[in-house]
Amino acid sequence: MAVVDPHSFTDSTHPFATHIHLSLYFDFPSFTIHGSALISLPGPYTGPLSLDTRSLNVHSVLEPRSNTPLQFSLSAPDPIKGSHLTVSLSNHSSVLIVYSTSPSSSALQWLSPPQTFNKTYPFVYTQCQAIHARSVFPCQDTPAARVCFSARLNVPRQLSAVMSARHIERRAPIAGEAAELVCGDSLWCAEGRVVEEFAMEQPIPPYLFAFAVGEIAFREVGPRTRVYAESVPAVLDSAAREFAGTEDIIRQGERLFGPYEWERFDLLVLPPSFPYGGMENPRMVFLTPTVIKGDASGAQVVAHELAHSWTGNLITNKNSEHFWLNEGFTTYAERRIVEVVQGEDAAVLNIGIGWRGLKEDIERFKDRMEFTKLKNKQEGVDPDDVYSQIPYEKGFQFLWRIERQVGRPTFDEFLKRYIDTFKFKSIDTETFLDFLKTNIPGIGNDIDLELWTEGVGIPPDAYEPVSSIYTKIVSLANEFNLGRMPREDEVADWKGQEWELYLESLPKSVEASQILSLDAHYRLSESKDYEVKVGFLQLAISSKCKDYYAEVEKTLKEVGRMKYLRPLYTTLVQGTGKEEEKVFAKRVFAEAREGYHPIAQGVVESILIKHV
Ligand code: BES
Ligand code: ZN
Repeated sequence: MAVVDPHSFTDSTHPFATHIHLSLYFDFPSFTIHGSALISLPGPYTGPLSLDTRSLNVHSVLEPRSNTPLQFSLSAPDPIKGSHLTVSLSNHSSVLIVYSTSPSSSALQWLSPPQTFNKTYPFVYTQCQAIHARSVFPCQDTPAARVCFSARLNVPRQLSAVMSARHIERRAPIAGEAAELVCGDSLWCAEGRVVEEFAMEQPIPPYLFAFAVGEIAFREVGPRTRVYAESVPAVLDSAAREFAGTEDIIRQGERLFGPYEWERFDLLVLPPSFPYGGMENPRMVFLTPTVIKGDASGAQVVAHELAHSWTGNLITNKNSEHFWLNEGFTTYAERRIVEVVQGEDAAVLNIGIGWRGLKEDIERFKDRMEFTKLKNKQEGVDPDDVYSQIPYEKGFQFLWRIERQVGRPTFDEFLKRYIDTFKFKSIDTETFLDFLKTNIPGIGNDIDLELWTEGVGIPPDAYEPVSSIYTKIVSLANEFNLGRMPREDEVADWKGQEWELYLESLPKSVEASQILSLDAHYRLSESKDYEVKVGFLQLAISSKCKDYYAEVEKTLKEVGRMKYLRPLYTTLVQGTGKEEEKVFAKRVFAEAREGYHPIAQGVVESILIKHV
């Protein structure tokens, strides 16, 4: 067997699928999808075909034209990779797999009506990165294998579906079009069901497959952009306001990287349990509602997810060991865009916050230094467990270092050539380095490329940003430690980012009385900006200021974004003499768990297992 990806059973001596057609019947009461996947190969093939699955019930594997059964076997589940599905083919160029998902599918969050805003209809959505597509349909679930999709989603008439794909039509179900499904024609064509059809004609890595089904509506915000969300006028209106500048951001992306190749750039604002800030699903980015702060600062996350349209979605990391190629480049591009649309100060603050985050995560991984390398070994490692700022910030620093060396005009030209050369390809770190050395001769004499990509920690030529506002905030934070509260006039024009950096720059723990007095002045515990609120609550917990535990509990129950869950739970349970906090964290998790996406449930669980 020839392995291409430590997180997949895909065998590179087998043909890679060219197209997957999905028929999906959504059964909300049982949190189940009854599906079929028609997998097309480049041509007739004889031999075994390895596919990834996780918690899928495989009912049958068929030759699609005659519906004759084919031999298959499903392995016992590996805790990280899931179950290996092997299908035996003889001169077949496609195969049909009939299956059902299970309620515990790791990609899917099923929300019952009371968990939604309007409380009338259920909602379901996917999060497939890093390795969760296999829990929705069988596939070669590695970014090394790019594939086109088409899909028919059969949903209740009151709901609508969106996908990271072109919407073809909404229509009545047709008898016979999904007869092989476990639900059969009788349910597929039942009264009150509709079919939504989609197609993704450009080959994408499976982790970019995405859909959401619910009571969804939209507002137009630009020539190629709508914002979608649960059909709540206040949510849609505030989202439309927050993202009004999106077209401007797309133009900046095009200026930096070349044409936008995906036609539409729609945004979907998910319920508060969405586990990430944003996810770059092609044609439709998924976003947490916490980015809507009412001051257009959500543009940073939009700039980031947009930048993935080039770095990540056009050029894709071959597997998670080269994840920095996705996130480092995207973080670099995000900041170039922020610099233009929000100004240089905003970009420098963003870099400064990133620098603090990098140092913190290098410290967090001091016992697992392998994951402080840009390129790292992930055999036997769950990518969700080693997710950190390091690929983002060290990757950013590496590219920024190259920019400083060659100058911006040369680097910009290099970036465009890089995108153009590798678009619609999945590549690794070596491919990037070879291209860099060819196109910028002598770069290896000025920059230690091996130290940057294969070394642990932060290389000596990484660079902490300087600007008067950055320096001022960091020095005010140092003074707070000596007992000085920042004066009102000093913070008068601070917005979320300034406070975020200030809080990140304070010592890990201070006197409880200082916490109370800071909050009495500036009401940080009540901030509508979760970056500020969570930064403050984390400081309160590590300073053992119990006055805020009720607010911590409330926060852990209202949002499911892992960027907030991770530090709050970790700060509660990490360290000695924390018996009360551990009991508290366990109780809150038991009560909040149902409301989290399965990926977030897993991450919180591993934090608690490690420390409690
Ligand atoms: N692709 C990531 C999210 C992701 C990474 C999901 C790994 C699953 C596995 C996305 O582009 C991202 O980086 N989101 C950030 C946004 C931020 C950097 C602006 C987030 O969610 O915080
Ligand atoms: Zn990203």
